[in-house]
Amino acid sequence: METDILIVVGARPNFMKAAPLYRALASRGYTVKLVHTGQHYDANMSDVFFEQLQLPRPDEYLGVGGGTHAEQTANIMVAFEKVLAQATPKIVVVVGDVNSTIACSLVASKAGVRVAHVEAGLRSFDRSMPEEINRVLTDRISDLLFVTEDSGLRNLANEGVPEHQVFFVGNVMIDSLVHVLNTIESDEAARAASVEDRTYALCTMHRPSNVDDFERLQTVVDTIASVARELPVYLPLHPRTRKSLVRHSLLEALSAHENVHVLDPLGYLEFLKLMTGATVLITDSGGIQEETTYLRIPCLTVRENTERPVTCELGSNELVPLDVDRILDRVRTILAGRWKESRIPPLWDGHAGERIADVIAASLAPAQTVP
Ligand code: UD1
Repeated sequence: METDILIVVGARPNFMKAAPLYRALASRGYTVKLVHTGQHYDANMSDVFFEQLQLPRPDEYLGVGGGTHAEQTANIMVAFEKVLAQATPKIVVVVGDVNSTIACSLVASKAGVRVAHVEAGLRSFDRSMPEEINRVLTDRISDLLFVTEDSGLRNLANEGVPEHQVFFVGNVMIDSLVHVLNTIESDEAARAASVEDRTYALCTMHRPSNVDDFERLQTVVDTIASVARELPVYLPLHPRTRKSLVRHSLLEALSAHENVHVLDPLGYLEFLKLMTGATVLITDSGGIQEETTYLRIPCLTVRENTERPVTCELGSNELVPLDVDRILDRVRTILAGRWKESRIPPLWDGHAGERIADVIAASLAPAQTVP
């Protein structure tokens, strides 16, 4: 059967973005194939998301995880080129900013296949983040660019991207959140993940800039220990962070702290269950800034910048430096109930996937002039 659309996924944050797109495109009658690069390969970083998001098993699994950035990106490119030549889709859809995103868009673009980038235009203006390089390059070679927030429109205009290629559609990550929100209470796995504490912090850290270097990681550990004197801290550990804690002999002391609960990476529903009950999120993630904004839960993002400024301008997010006292001060403010009023950004309404599918459908229509 001819393939109309290939959707590429690779790493954990991609799965919740792809699920609403897959649903919206397949329901319009297109033949949609899912390619999983295998950038993330552990069951709890990948398989569980397919089950919980009701994504079908990938049509192609490239099995290209691990390695340096160059190795990972290059291996994905080599493997994806073969899949693309076989499938001959009319368009390739990539999401987010991970290495799989740039690797597959580069291959498709050079093969003369149109590329749609979902979550285009976000910029931290910080090239020390590998994701920023992936964002800039993917946008440069994409044909259709789907934007989640106002800043994305401005950034793409400043970079000279023609207006007719850019579509402000809202946020597919929020589509997935809205889709499962009602099921969290009844889902068994999610219920099992709930905790008894009524007040607690949920913490995730995995950025190389926070967890790779010993001194920074030591400060992360000190911060978590200090916050844990105020309220219990739940800490699902990303494989990168676990490896680094072990390498620097910091994991044991952290796990031994009576108010710190070190967990394995959680499934989507389990994590959302913990998030919806949390008093505060302390994180360096991209997507959690958006999810907490939608849920209006205070979020402290331990980074110097964000590519998602709307989460600070309208949402419940605030950037904080990696500094024990500053973070403790913000946690105490939240515990005292003095956090800012926040709003949900425009078009974060659970229907972004449908809007994207409409634009892709129009671009595939035979009589249409395409960008
Ligand atoms: C990647 C993304 C980042 C995203 C994050 C979410 C890039 C450049 N970065 O970072 O934007 O926020 O995913 O998780 O694409 N590992 C495992 N098991 C797995 C996956 C990874 O053990 O299932 C190990 C890898 O072998 C490596 C480390 O964890 O040692 C980091 O994985 P990698 O894919 O290189 O980048 P992330 O830090 O996960």
